[in-house]
Amino acid sequence: MTVRKNLCMRAYGKINLTLDILGRMENGYHEVEMIMQQVSLYDSVQISEKTDGPAEISSNCPWLPSDGRNLAYKAAEAFARATGYDVPVKIRIGKYIPVASGLAGGSSDAAAVLRGLNILTKAGLSTEELCKIGRDIGSDVPFCITGGTALATGRGDELRPLPPMPDCRILLAKPRLSVSTPAAYAEFDRAKNITHPDTASCIQALEHGDLAALAAGMHNVFEDSLPIPEVEKLKQIMKEHGALCANMSGSGPTVFGIFTDESAVLKARAACRACAPFVFYCRPAARRRGG
Ligand code: C5P
Repeated sequence: MTVRKNLCMRAYGKINLTLDILGRMENGYHEVEMIMQQVSLYDSVQISEKTDGPAEISSNCPWLPSDGRNLAYKAAEAFARATGYDVPVKIRIGKYIPVASGLAGGSSDAAAVLRGLNILTKAGLSTEELCKIGRDIGSDVPFCITGGTALATGRGDELRPLPPMPDCRILLAKPRLSVSTPAAYAEFDRAKNITHPDTASCIQALEHGDLAALAAGMHNVFEDSLPIPEVEKLKQIMKEHGALCANMSGSGPTVFGIFTDESAVLKARAACRACAPFVFYCRPAARRRGG
């Protein structure tokens, strides 16, 4: 088999600074309003051209599916369908973002495949065109294509860029459990007492570069509809160690804490390691230049 060309992409994870659900849409999806922030934790996605056959997926993660259940595989198929550039490829994923964690690792791998194939084939699609392909793969894929800081509305795929999050330390901790996104939305539909985030004040805080005000307004409605004791424990540990705030990302269960102080985040990291198998400290990632 002759490998003709290859390239390696970074697939960054995301956190939800706010996550609000406004209602149900006619297509069955929920209408959301979320401030999304890309973070510096990333998977590596290596794409190599091969001579023939369907896309081949491999990774360093034994339980990651390598067939059509993998969003990276779906992305390769969707790109070929949309553009007519049906280039046979091998995709090797270095998985460092935990799976099913609320950090959009799978969506980001798919986004990296779309961006990578656009470069490899010289198809010349714009960011908007890539996002159009991406939204059929998953609601978070368009944000993972554009990155940075953005307000996501509709089903999460309509994006408005926001001023970048002020630099800070972000501690991620994922408890030893997984949450199904559809199940989390179904639980939300049954929930009664929901506190909604103050999205407008968070946007204003971003405009003023005010990290403390941003942290004060953050909230995720899934924490009200599906309280998880392990999540509460990690939030408490992070706050006790000086986090400006600690919240769950997406439908969970990863908790992120916002810190300004290096020594505080290191102590919080050590404390979280006592009860969470995945603990990682990162920073906000900037919007990709030129898409
Ligand atoms: O878009 P994505 O494939 O990531 O969504 C997974 C599932 O999460 C959907 O099938 C739906 O059940 C739920 N969802 C929703 N409203 C959204 C996004 C996702 O109900 N805005």
